[in-house]
Amino acid sequence: MTISVDPRPEQRALLLALERRGGWEESLDELARLAETAGVEVVGTVTQKRDRPDPAAFVGKGKAEEIRQIKGEVRADLLLVDGDLRPSQQRNLEDAANMGVLDRTALILDIFSQRARSAEGKIQVELAQLNYLLPRLTGKGTELSRLGGGIGTRGPGETKLEVDRRRLRRRLSLLKKQVEQLEKRRTVERRHRREAGIPVVALVGYTNAGKSTLLNALAGADVFVEDLLFATLDPTIRRVELAEGRNFLLADTVGFIRNLPHQLVAAFKATLEEVVEADVLVHVVDASHPQMRDQVEAARRVLAELGCADKPTVIALNKCDLVADRAWLAEVAAREEHVVAISALTGEGLGELLRAIGERLEQELVPVEVTVPWSAQDLVSEAHERGRVLSEDFQEEGVSLSARVPADVAQRLRKAAGSQTAEEDQW
Ligand code: GTP
Repeated sequence: MTISVDPRPEQRALLLALERRGGWEESLDELARLAETAGVEVVGTVTQKRDRPDPAAFVGKGKAEEIRQIKGEVRADLLLVDGDLRPSQQRNLEDAANMGVLDRTALILDIFSQRARSAEGKIQVELAQLNYLLPRLTGKGTELSRLGGGIGTRGPGETKLEVDRRRLRRRLSLLKKQVEQLEKRRTVERRHRREAGIPVVALVGYTNAGKSTLLNALAGADVFVEDLLFATLDPTIRRVELAEGRNFLLADTVGFIRNLPHQLVAAFKATLEEVVEADVLVHVVDASHPQMRDQVEAARRVLAELGCADKPTVIALNKCDLVADRAWLAEVAAREEHVVAISALTGEGLGELLRAIGERLEQELVPVEVTVPWSAQDLVSEAHERGRVLSEDFQEEGVSLSARVPADVAQRLRKAAGSQTAEEDQW
């Protein structure tokens, strides 16, 4: 869905920030990076010393007039505001500065919409965008170009705005239904995966750290990768095989950004649940980025918000091909546990990363539901020793077991249960 003030790659933007206490410069830097990520060129910055935004138009009249002038001088088409604007503030500022205005949330929404790859991601972004847009709808300056023309002919006496609102609400409720269906599908898929006992590893990290490149690199590396049935619906989950027939599912997730707006976290709940439910996380870090530490912290904050701060994690220091100080990188990787230096682009360190993931998975308990034949009862004892047995039911053909066990035990339990099925088939 497009609004007339969507940032477009060829657009030139002015940044606007308030000089207030507590880190406004860092926040402004991040806004500049977000603009760059959205593909917009930053041609100038305007700031105003004030602790609270002007309730009417974010900045005072004089400043708005100054923006109008600078806009002409630097040929800017867009004003990016470092803050959240109320709909009325946005309208007033647009009028006063005579240009399209986007706040931080709108810019982030735009980046997400450019980057959403799966059908699911696209629906979730559009839903968040509509929720953002609806209270901002005014009669002017708003096109609903991609909302499918022709829906809802205008009734007598209805304004264009009322029609637009109605179309938006209809679209909104359709999207909500789709998201609900997707959530249901995901839940079913997760249950299947749980039953199959395949552990899930989720890639997390700051936006642009290289998660998707890593997913593809692992698909092309020395490991066996295949698309699962549901992977055709959501191309961001792949099966990766480790040594000895063990395998795991690798899930790509939406990139994290500092101050991720809450409405986005809510919109991406279904996708982020992949993170919540994962057995192990791979935190992908752009080790070549000057703000690497900030980005790691920003990603950690989002993880904490999701309640995943304590999940077993492997840190992948990516883009090591771009890091000049290789000794430092090697030293960090050698010193810290579960930290590996890699390049998703050149393939360097990927074997080591897989080994680290394998180790983490081995420490992790995975769920199994199997019937273990009487001939393999030593495995049941091992499940008791090394894992947690949730229920045990003694049956004619063996012990029906529901347990959480280390991945290697799960593998052997399933193998034992599988060979029994094969024998039964022969009968
Ligand atoms: P989001 O979808 O925003 O979360 O991004 P992402 O984390 O999936 O990053 P993505 O894989 O799209 O990579 C971002 C950019 O970094 C791309 O231009 C990649 O080519 C580049 N990149 C990824 N890994 C490496 C690497 O190891 N070395 C170098 N030099 N570039 C890399």
